[in-house]
Order: sequence, then C-alpha cells, then structure tokens
Amino acid sequence: MKTILTGIRVNSELTMGNFLGALLPMTRLANKYSDDHHVNIFVADLHTIIAEQDGTLQDNLVMLIKMYLAAGLKVNENVHIYRQSYVPATSEMTWILNCVATMGELGRMIQYKEKGRGEDSCNVGIFDYPILMATDILLFDGNYIPVGQDQFQHIELTRDIAQRVNHRFGKDIFTIPEKTSVQAKFMGTDDGIRIRDLVNPEKKMSKSAKAANSKIMMTDDPKAAAKKIMSATTDSFGEIKYDMKERPGISNLLQIEALVNDKPLEEVLNEWEGKTNYGDLKKQVADSVEKMLAEFHEKLNKISNGDVFELMEKGEKYANKKANAKLYELQRAFQLR
Ligand code: TYM
Repeated sequence: MKTILTGIRVNSELTMGNFLGALLPMTRLANKYSDDHHVNIFVADLHTIIAEQDGTLQDNLVMLIKMYLAAGLKVNENVHIYRQSYVPATSEMTWILNCVATMGELGRMIQYKEKGRGEDSCNVGIFDYPILMATDILLFDGNYIPVGQDQFQHIELTRDIAQRVNHRFGKDIFTIPEKTSVQAKFMGTDDGIRIRDLVNPEKKMSKSAKAANSKIMMTDDPKAAAKKIMSATTDSFGEIKYDMKERPGISNLLQIEALVNDKPLEEVLNEWEGKTNYGDLKKQVADSVEKMLAEFHEKLNKISNGDVFELMEKGEKYANKKANAKLYELQRAFQLR
C-alpha cells in the first residue's frame, strides 16, 4: 500500500493558508484513498519548537487534530494520527541523515534564508529543519505529501537525500517520494497551493503577518473573516481574470472560492472570468468563507479531548513499530547495528 503523509506545526492558531493549503486537501485525499492507502497525519511538535513557545503547545496540538476531524476526516484502520515527538526514531534518524546532507543544500533552502537570514543567533533547528522533515517522510515510505507550495523545496531535498542513501548502499532503503509536479497533480492543482496575504497578495498568507486584515485565522469569528475578504486588495484592471503573477489579489479570491467549495478552479473561472464587478465576487467569497467557518466551529465544539488522545495513542503504536523497523535498516547500513 502506498502512503499519503503530512505534518503541521502548532506554534499558534492555524491560518486559512494552512487550512486550505494542507489540512483540507489532506482530509479530502484521506477520505478518498484510505481504503487502500496508509494515511499518516501527524503533529510536527519537534518542528514547532524552532520558535520559543508560550505555554500553549499541548492545547494547540489537540486543537490541530480536532480541526482535521471538524474538516470531515474519516478515520479507519489505515488512518494513523500521531505526535512526531512520540516517535523517538525520528530524532535518531535525523542525526544519521545530518551526516548525509550538506551545509550547501540546507543553506539554499528559502525558508532558512527567510527565517534565519544568515544570522549567528539563528538556532540550529531552523537550519536543520528540512532534515527532520525528510526523516518524517522517509521513516514511513511516504509517497504523496500534501503540503502547500512553500514546502515543495523540502520535498525535492528529501528526494535527493533518499536517492543518495540508496545509491551509497546499493539498495532501496528508502522509498523516493513523488516529484513535486506529481504531488501538485495529486492535490488537484497545476503547481501547488499558495494562499496569499489579503493585504499584500504578492506574499503568502502567514501566521507572522502583522496586520490583522492580512490573514484569516481558523478561529476567527465567521462574520469578521467575511469582512476581511470584503476588504482584500485586488487590482485596477477592471475585469476579473485569473493570473497569479499580474493579478494575485483577485486570483487569490478565485482560488479560495474553489477550495472552500471543493470545486475545480475551472468551474469558478467559467463563472467569474470576464465579469467586471469585483464587489460581487468578493461578496460571494465572503459568504463562502463565513459559511464554512460557521459550520467548522460548530463541529469543532463537539469533539472532545478524549477522542483526540485515543486516536493519537493508537496511531503512535502503529507509527513506532513501522519507524523502528526503518531506523534499524538504516542503522545496519551505517554499521551502527
Ligand atoms: P507549516 O506548519 O509551516 O505549515 C503547515 C502546512 O500549511 C501549508 N501552508 C500554506 N499553504 C498554502 N498557502 C499558504 N499561505 C500556506 N501557509 C502554510 C504549508 O505548506 C504546510 O503544508 N515543515 C512543515 C511541517 C512538516 C511536514 C513534515 C510536512 C514537518 N514534517 C513532513 C509534510 C511532511 C511545516 O513547518 O509546515
């Protein structure tokens, strides 16, 4: 059976970028494929601590799993939910792969350049983060990795490292995850999902944006979220057209409308392209987001912490068994066993 796998950090509440770029696509793919695929959904708690925490990490991680359930995730015996740090093989394998990856490779990672800015005070975890991510994928023979476009570079790096190890030892220790072009197709897009900042649509929607109107948090009041959509930056071309490069604001709204309603983008474009009233489109997207959030919050409130812990503990049993076997194979190759 092939494996679909993804992780999300929990350093604060989720943005609609996290939700539409990863959590919701993962949920839909899980529901579509879990009869004959493993589906691994984990909380990337070790990745979370690259930033100092404020005491809410444990609450946030329970909330993350609740969000999958509220988004409609159906759990069967092939769906495995776990906390990354509860699978200790993760840390061990990361060390071994640290001895395979190069400084040059990691130094080229965009996320490191943005977050670390080459400063001496940048913690080593921020630099090494893609190796931890590669481990998450390779420990479980991940084939399909539903992530937003900002993580594609890390998937390509994972492929390089896996191929290097297999080549060095002359055997297929690791499954090579699919290329990012294939990943994007698997998620039903041409080149990956990148939800934009509502005020500065050249940028991705990010937790760290300062202006409250820039981002929609999944815990936002639905009416307040709708207002943010109504005030989103668009353009002055005067005609609705999907063009992420030249018209990222309006294109972002078209993309959000498609994802929220689980419609193909083409269908939304057929309906809106060529029209001239931006306000009508904004109203439509605002309504879609408001409705989605209201339903989502209602479901979220019905899920108990107990349900979440039960799922995680079950998933961790499966995950440790599988991960320990893969780690052992790697340790043997490196003459550690
Ligand atoms: P993280 O926690 O930064 O983000 C979680 C997911 O949300 C996606 N995302 C977006 N997608 C579209 N538009 C946006 N504006 C946007 N902002 C965030 C991210 O691409 C990601 O999919 N390293 C990962 C977590 C991770 C992981 C893994 C993922 C750890 N190990 C193994 C897959 C496989 C991260 O920090 O994502």
